[in-house]
Amino acid sequence: MTKIAEITNTFFAYLKRPDLYPELRRKIWKNLFNRSSALRGKEEAEIWCKSNAISEKKFIEDVLKLSFVPFEILFPAEFAQALEEQSKTPVKMGGAGSLSVIYYINEFVKSQNSIETGVAYGWSSFAALASLVERNGTLYSSDMPYILQNQSEDFVGCVIPEKYKKNWKLFRFADKESLPKIFEDQNSFNVVHYDSDKTYDGRMWAYNILWDKLEKGGVFMSDDIGDNAAFKDYCEKNKRKPYIIEFDGKYAGVIIKE
Ligand SMILES: C[S@@+](CC[C@H](N)C(=O)[O-])C[C@H]1O[C@@H](n2cnc3c(N)ncnc32)[C@H](O)[C@@H]1O
Repeated sequence: MTKIAEITNTFFAYLKRPDLYPELRRKIWKNLFNRSSALRGKEEAEIWCKSNAISEKKFIEDVLKLSFVPFEILFPAEFAQALEEQSKTPVKMGGAGSLSVIYYINEFVKSQNSIETGVAYGWSSFAALASLVERNGTLYSSDMPYILQNQSEDFVGCVIPEKYKKNWKLFRFADKESLPKIFEDQNSFNVVHYDSDKTYDGRMWAYNILWDKLEKGGVFMSDDIGDNAAFKDYCEKNKRKPYIIEFDGKYAGVIIKE
C-alpha cells in the first residue's frame, strides 16, 4: 500500500468510528505539527538503556527477591493454548514483552488492582491476570483497535484464558478516553503497565497521570523505552530510580514507588 493510500484508508476507517473521533483529531494534529514525537531522542535513549540494562532473571531474583521460573514454564498448558489461539487469528497485532516480569511484578505487590494500556492479542493481560486471579483481583485494560484491520477488534485479548476473563475489564477507546472511564471504576492501582501509544508526547501524558494513580509500594512498568527518550526524561525530571530490563533485544523500564 502506498503512503497516500494508507493515509486515505486510515482516515475513512476512523470516519466509520465516531467513538474514535477524538483520536482522529489528535492524529491529524500530530501528523501536521508534531511528526518527530515517535523517535525523539531515540539515539540517547538506546545508549542509556544499553548501559544500564539487566536481565529479567536478575531483576526478578535480585530486585524483587522472588525465585525465577519463566512464565511459560509456570503455566505450560495455558501458554500452549494461547499460542494456538494466536495462530488461528487472521490479523497481525503488536507482540508481547517480558511476560515473566509482568507476572512477577503483580506477584511482588500481591496486586489487587492493575492497569495496562495496550492489549492486542492479550499476552501482557494473560501474564498479569495469571497472578491477579489468585487473589480475585482485577485487571483494567485500555486498548484502541488497529484501525486498518476491520476484524482486529474481534481478536483483542484472544490469548487470555477464558477462566481469567471474569477478572478482566477492557475499555476499547484511545487512552485519552479510556483512562478517565477506568478511573471512574477504580482510582488507584498496585501495578501500572504502559504499552500503547509509544510516541514521546503520548508517553509523557500517560506516565504523569498513571504515576499519580499508583499506590505507594506499587510498581510502574513501561515497554519499549528505547524507542525515544520519554522514559529517560521522565525519570530524570522526576528523580525516579528506574530498573531497565533487556528482553528480546528491547528494553522495559520499571520503577518501584517508594
Ligand atoms: C504493542 S501492542 C500491545 C501488546 C500487549 N501489551 C502485549 O503484551 O501483548 C499495542 C496496543 O496498543 C494499542 N494502542 C495504540 N495506541 C493507543 C492509544 N492511544 N490508546 C489505546 N490503545 C492504543 C494498539 O492498537 C495495540 O493494540
